[in-house]
Amino acid sequence: MPIRRLPETLVNQIAAGEVVERPAAAVKELVENALDAGARHIDVVLRDGGRALIAVTDDGCGVTPEEMLLAVERHATSKLPDNDLVHIASLGFRGEALPSIGAVARLSVTSRPPEAEEAWALSVEGGRVGAPQPAAHPKGTRVEVRDLFFATPARLKFLKTARTEVSHAQDTLNRLAMAHPEVGFTLSDGDRKLISLAPAEGALFDARLKRLAAVMGRDFADNALPISAEREGIGLTGYIGLPTLNRGNAQQQYLFVNGRPVRDKLLYGAVRGAYQDFLARDRHPLVALFVTLPPEQVDVNVHPTKAEVRFRDPGLVRGLIVSAAKHALAEAGHRASTTVSD
Ligand SMILES: Nc1ncnc2c1ncn2[C@@H]1O[C@H](COP(=O)(O)OP(=O)(O)OP(=O)(O)O)[C@@H](O)[C@H]1O
Ligand SMILES: [Mg+2]
Repeated sequence: MPIRRLPETLVNQIAAGEVVERPAAAVKELVENALDAGARHIDVVLRDGGRALIAVTDDGCGVTPEEMLLAVERHATSKLPDNDLVHIASLGFRGEALPSIGAVARLSVTSRPPEAEEAWALSVEGGRVGAPQPAAHPKGTRVEVRDLFFATPARLKFLKTARTEVSHAQDTLNRLAMAHPEVGFTLSDGDRKLISLAPAEGALFDARLKRLAAVMGRDFADNALPISAEREGIGLTGYIGLPTLNRGNAQQQYLFVNGRPVRDKLLYGAVRGAYQDFLARDRHPLVALFVTLPPEQVDVNVHPTKAEVRFRDPGLVRGLIVSAAKHALAEAGHRASTTVSD
């Protein structure tokens, strides 16, 4: 068979296979875009588990109709001003999300930058881009995704029940919300509000604890020890639960790297190491840890959905987590025992 270049729509559908695995992945991309746009409120609506509709509305910086046309084009981004993959400071950087979604669904973007007199809307259906039309919309952006995977029936077949897809989306939004307590979030399935988080007030530590309490439960906030440590330019903050608050799995162990929720084996290993003197091997503590480090010390471009990162010095990050957590636990044990002996 001759070698040939694939048509652009097909290229986008193939890329979409990696970027948009299920409705929750589209929610993640759209909410990350809203966060990168500086939004203070982000509302997400899903219908039929996101299969019929995913709508994300923000009050961020918006885009002009010219930018909108670029935004749905592959590899077009406003987020790499210096063509520099080493210093990535935003959640997005590839310019892949909107064209990928537009290739496998009916996408519409309606937006008005704060200084603009009017809003514009643009639609993309199965890869075909329309022309921007004047529209009515307040400052900010609304992205609607209808009939997800209508253009890729094979992927459509793999979707689970609406309930399962909604719970994945809920988990995705909760993780992003934990990293951004200053932003208000709602998620509704059209009938019920499933998430309703007001922007948390106060200094970072207070605001963060309020948000963690709202997401992980009051129990966690009441039984959490603050963590604050720094080593060789790597910062670690967050909260770890007392050993007495534990679970049968590690699902409530959250790690964020430069504001990005990530799943990282390094975290689970470090947490196990820190709690080994306090907990049986089959019990798992609740933790939410936030690592901040210079962007050049972490590669975020290693996973199609950016769910994993690669640290330049994983041993340093692991060591920092283990020693800070051990220290906090030892202090807490000491405090508890002095209280008892008083
Ligand atoms: N909600 C939004 N508000 C303002 N601008 C947006 C919004 N969503 C997208 N954009 C603009 O559209 C561009 C393309 O978005 P898209 O998500 O496709 O790529 P990206 O965010 O740059 O990179 P990535 O593929 O890693 O997400 C963005 O760079 C941004 O300029
Ligand atoms: Mg993006």
